[in-house]
Amino acid sequence: MNVKISGTGSSLPHKILTNADLEQMIDTSDEWIRTRTGITERRIAAPGEYTSTFAAEAARNALAMAGVHPEELDLIILSTVTPDFPFPSTACIVQDILGAVNATAFDLSAACSGFIYGLSVAEKYIRSGAAKKILVIGSETLSRIVDWQDRNTCVLFGDGAGAVVLEASSESDHSLLSTHTFSNGAHWNLLYQPGSGSRNPASASRTIDERLIYITMEGNEVFKHAVRGMEEAAIKALDSNGLAPADISLLIPHQANQRIISATAKRLEIDPPRLFTNLHRYGNTSSASIPIALDEANRQGLLKPDGKILLVAFGGGFTYGSALVNW
Ligand code: UT7
Repeated sequence: MNVKISGTGSSLPHKILTNADLEQMIDTSDEWIRTRTGITERRIAAPGEYTSTFAAEAARNALAMAGVHPEELDLIILSTVTPDFPFPSTACIVQDILGAVNATAFDLSAACSGFIYGLSVAEKYIRSGAAKKILVIGSETLSRIVDWQDRNTCVLFGDGAGAVVLEASSESDHSLLSTHTFSNGAHWNLLYQPGSGSRNPASASRTIDERLIYITMEGNEVFKHAVRGMEEAAIKALDSNGLAPADISLLIPHQANQRIISATAKRLEIDPPRLFTNLHRYGNTSSASIPIALDEANRQGLLKPDGKILLVAFGGGFTYGSALVNW
């Protein structure tokens, strides 16, 4: 039994926030942002657009490519750190929007690695025979939890969603060869949202007064762990499939920082033509970044038959992981 990626889709807000726009808002410069991060612009949700909005559109695009009707879905897994509500799950809202009445739906929280975690869970549902058709979505509206007064973080993030349809298949094309996930909870407090959970509830005045509702990050520390974690996860994927870096036709890493991406690719000996990046246009969209990039690479015809596509992510938790696809 193979696990086939039969469709990919993505959805991005129309509103573009450029580095020049940010220069008007905080003490920063286009030059600093580009050289330190590689980001030129990012997409920002308009009023009335939510995580479910982008998730549903990305899902519809993936379902259309797969030729799968929403009623055929057995499962919807939605990865996000910015759900529409603390509960119910945004996956249930997306189930309702799509009319996927036969699907079980739940959210998954693994920060920027969430899409890889979602693939890993979906793979196991299919290989065990528990599901045949699954939608895995990464969707984020990070602009709603970014502190627009904090130049250390607000220049980094953007909104959007990506999705894939996974199906049980006897064919070997477009198939998921492996997934690997890792966690290191010892560093949970290097990248997190201190407020609006049970420790610092949204109802406490302290949460607002001390600006606890926003993303907090020790950027330098996260940077070092990210390079090491992505390398470890990528090597695990290669080793478990008996492959070498030279066998990889395209590396699609989580899009957080161009310097992290380049350092990871260098350690893996993947040259720039085999590296996909769209960070300059979208910034860091957390769990949406890999499925958006996968969909763009797919629609641009960059995924060649039998090509080995390596997906690798790192995020808050810490969480990290990899997936290897035979296209
Ligand atoms: O998605 C999950 C994983 N997340 C990541 O992987 C993010 C990992 N971290 C990073 O990408 C980088 O650490 C950052 C881009 C966040 C920061 O880059 P850095 O090279 O580590 O810079 P820094 O934090 O060491 O800051 C250098 C200087 C500081 O000034 P001083 O203290 O040296 O005078 C900052 O205040 O740059 C200053 N700075 C800025 N200057 C202009 C920080 N943000 C800005 C800004 N504009 N937006």
